[in-house]
Amino acid sequence: MELDGAVVIVTGASSGIGAATARLAAGGGAKVVLAGRRWGRIKELADDLPDALAVQTDLRDPTQIVRLVDATLDRFGRVDVLVNNAGQGLHVPVEEIRLDDLRAITELNFYAPLLAMQAVIPPMRSQGGGVIVNVSSMTSRMVLPGVGGYSATKSALNMLSQVARRELAPDGIVVSIVYPSVTATEFHQSLAAGARVGGDSRAVRAHPAESVAEAIVGVIGSGEEEVMLTSGWDHGAPDRRESV
Ligand SMILES: NC(=O)c1ccc[n+]([C@@H]2O[C@H](COP(=O)([O-])OP(=O)(O)OC[C@H]3O[C@@H](n4cnc5c(N)ncnc54)[C@H](OP(=O)(O)O)[C@@H]3O)[C@@H](O)[C@H]2O)c1
Repeated sequence: MELDGAVVIVTGASSGIGAATARLAAGGGAKVVLAGRRWGRIKELADDLPDALAVQTDLRDPTQIVRLVDATLDRFGRVDVLVNNAGQGLHVPVEEIRLDDLRAITELNFYAPLLAMQAVIPPMRSQGGGVIVNVSSMTSRMVLPGVGGYSATKSALNMLSQVARRELAPDGIVVSIVYPSVTATEFHQSLAAGARVGGDSRAVRAHPAESVAEAIVGVIGSGEEEVMLTSGWDHGAPDRRESV
């Protein structure tokens, strides 16, 4: 997918990886659509970027996901790329997972990407193709105590993405997964419950959000199935329980 001129929806664009992705994509000539609940943040970012649109969206509300895609089509007449980036952590042991917390992050981390994919598939199909990038987590590629609920939502997203990639290939729609590792964003301050596993960052070299954004924008261009960002502990250091 050529980024220049492409219409790119980024969910969770009010902070962290989503905001960095929106900036990078806009820098490459994309028309970005910014989704998130914090209107002030996405409006300010949209005002700073050429030809960008902010759509206040609570992704846990299915009707607002449809409204996001409709607003995109109303403004730009097409949607070329969907980046399902919004997500929230839940960092407690399995024994302590509260169903309300798990339900909330499942709605955001799993149902919302599904519903957003379902909303963009028809217009992408009629355009002759498109790109969907789902932002997962490296925690779903290992067995890490303390994050079972969160990792389960991302594991579900992984499988959904892999199946969708095969189902949608005949329509020219490419589905990819990006797996961030520890990233320096607000993520660890806005967990649904719990705290960063290990509690400190001795062993962990957090990526800047911009590095993950580069991976996301890269995969929009390359169409690779999966891109994994590895971190400090993946290079021989330490006890994986020290880090998430
Ligand atoms: N940071 C890490 O260490 C790390 C590691 C692996 C994977 N990830 C994944 O990377 C993605 C981005 O996270 P981040 O690190 O950039 O964290 P972040 O800075 O906390 O960003 C999370 C984004 O999700 C949005 N969001 C949360 N609830 C929402 C809702 N109900 N409706 C709409 N948007 C909602 C937030 O926007 P509003 O609050 O404005 O709605 C925010 O823009 C997530 O999927 C996360 O699971 C992060």
